[in-house]
Amino acid sequence: MVVAVKSVCDLLAKKKRGEKITMLTAHDAAFGTLVDRAGVDLVLVGDSLGMVALGYDSTVPVTMAEMIHHARAVRRGVKNTLLIGDMPFLSYQVDEKSAIANAGRFLKEAGCAAVKVEGGARIAATVAAVVRAGIPVMGHIGLTPQTAGQLGGFKVQGRDDGSAERLLHDAEALAEAGAFALVLECVPALLARRISAAVSIPTIGIGAGPYCDGQVLVTHDLLGLFDRFVPRFAKQYATLAEQAGAALASFRDEVERGVFPAAEHSFGPLIEGKGPPADK
Ligand code: KIV
Repeated sequence: MVVAVKSVCDLLAKKKRGEKITMLTAHDAAFGTLVDRAGVDLVLVGDSLGMVALGYDSTVPVTMAEMIHHARAVRRGVKNTLLIGDMPFLSYQVDEKSAIANAGRFLKEAGCAAVKVEGGARIAATVAAVVRAGIPVMGHIGLTPQTAGQLGGFKVQGRDDGSAERLLHDAEALAEAGAFALVLECVPALLARRISAAVSIPTIGIGAGPYCDGQVLVTHDLLGLFDRFVPRFAKQYATLAEQAGAALASFRDEVERGVFPAAEHSFGPLIEGKGPPADK
């Protein structure tokens, strides 16, 4: 029997039992409801919303105000699943005091259970400070989109021995700092397996192969709703952008041809003296 995750501590138990952890993104109440109903372990209000919902070219411009606004909307749709707020670029890098204050906003204003931050050993002291303040923190290493420029673009990380060792060190530093889980993004599968075995906290992969303790996808990618580009690691379980496009075009066509609205979408008879009474 799969036990529902009620707190971040349950994730560690899942790893110990060898049960896979599932996480999906949501950026508004409607998607929060859908993802919650799917029964995943965690809902992430990812800063990917900058690209899929706000139309930015990257996650860099996303602000705390935008994240809190969307996290509050997702909160209203999510009834049972633990909610995690993604801290946007420069909301935790400036100093520990502002990192704690910004992380706290996700809990106090948006009802999140935890926050996620990008970066390895160099932000371990900040992670420790936020955890000491009583806020659970999820780490995110490998390809970190907020600083993709420094990493040479949106590329797989840890391909050579030196960078693989650095990623392992990053994972250990974050676990040591008190992070409760780690996202591994775009990391070779065998390195992800090594990292997952080396740290006691769960790893949640995206483009990191099958050996992580769990998997996360951006829901818009999974549903085929974001077609500006499709990352190789993102399996499309549906092609909703195509279906949505066809549905919207059908609406336009039917209105133009006078097919919609028909009698069943209207109130009262369409011709005086004929059809259902006016109150139907
Ligand atoms: O912003 C996001 O959606 C993320 C996931 C890809 C893990 O960070």
